[in-house]
Amino acid sequence: MKQFTSIKDVDNLTDLLAIAKKCKETPYQYQHLGKNKTLGLLFFNASLRTRLSTQKAAFNLGMQVMTMNIDKEGWQLELEEGAIMNQQSQEHIKEAAQVLSQYCDCIGIRAFASLEDRTKDYEEHLLQKFIQYSSVPIISLESATRHPLQGFTDLLTIEEHKKHSRPKVVLTWAPHPKPLPQAVANSFVAWMQQAEVELVITHPKGFELTPSVTQQTPVVYDQEEAFQEADFIYAKNWSTYAPYGQVGVDLSHWMIDTAKMALTNQAYFMHCLPVRRNVVVEDAVLDAPTALHIAQANNRTYAAQAVLLKFLQDD
Ligand code: CP
Repeated sequence: MKQFTSIKDVDNLTDLLAIAKKCKETPYQYQHLGKNKTLGLLFFNASLRTRLSTQKAAFNLGMQVMTMNIDKEGWQLELEEGAIMNQQSQEHIKEAAQVLSQYCDCIGIRAFASLEDRTKDYEEHLLQKFIQYSSVPIISLESATRHPLQGFTDLLTIEEHKKHSRPKVVLTWAPHPKPLPQAVANSFVAWMQQAEVELVITHPKGFELTPSVTQQTPVVYDQEEAFQEADFIYAKNWSTYAPYGQVGVDLSHWMIDTAKMALTNQAYFMHCLPVRRNVVVEDAVLDAPTALHIAQANNRTYAAQAVLLKFLQDD
């Protein structure tokens, strides 16, 4: 594997899942592979899980880690070719990416969507510039339109908890006071489309994801109808795709509560975190034994470890 920015970078999903399970069983087995290797982690946005689980994954593999909040601690980066840099930007990405490649054997980047320019966000402008100018593998720690480590984690968690061979998995939109990117939802759909599951998406009208992501996956606008017989409920807010980045009117009745969960086949509840309690989901759902959000957070380590291990093995 040369980069990990979406499920399209994965040659063999069954193999990658097996590696993640193996890493979970015996986390320190491959420490010899990471010895004297350095992972650089660059954050343009806040993080708890991604930052710490990816660091832990690297430590489990015997790697060294350097982490930088590049938006606060680095020079302001210029992305445009031929820019006359007499304004705010101080360092061109051409130099920054090449310099980082001298220090690191692999670079992780988190750079969220602007939610202002849909074209640039969906072109993955910043991530692609890093890929263009780096000479080491790039791993996405959540980009403008995708969160592949989260999608991989979610698949691993469903594999561990499913009670029958083709569970019904419902991705449900949930309320949030601020506009959020579509990255987690896009990746969840993409990874579930490659899994042995019956995937259904439910959201209010106007919150359609891009058709290139949704493809043939059924969309049910009635949330309670979608929840019927579900085995997994995956809640996530996302802002509108068209017009881009809108939060919508009051849709608080889309919050996940125990009454809605009672419509399901005793479904597990999933969320990538962070979650706003009693806005996205009621306390009682999160505090029930059927909530998997902490198990998901734990699996972030082994998803990241499997990806890093593939890089090390393919080096
Ligand atoms: N789920 C997730 O990516 O969490 P963080 O934003 O805290 O990294």
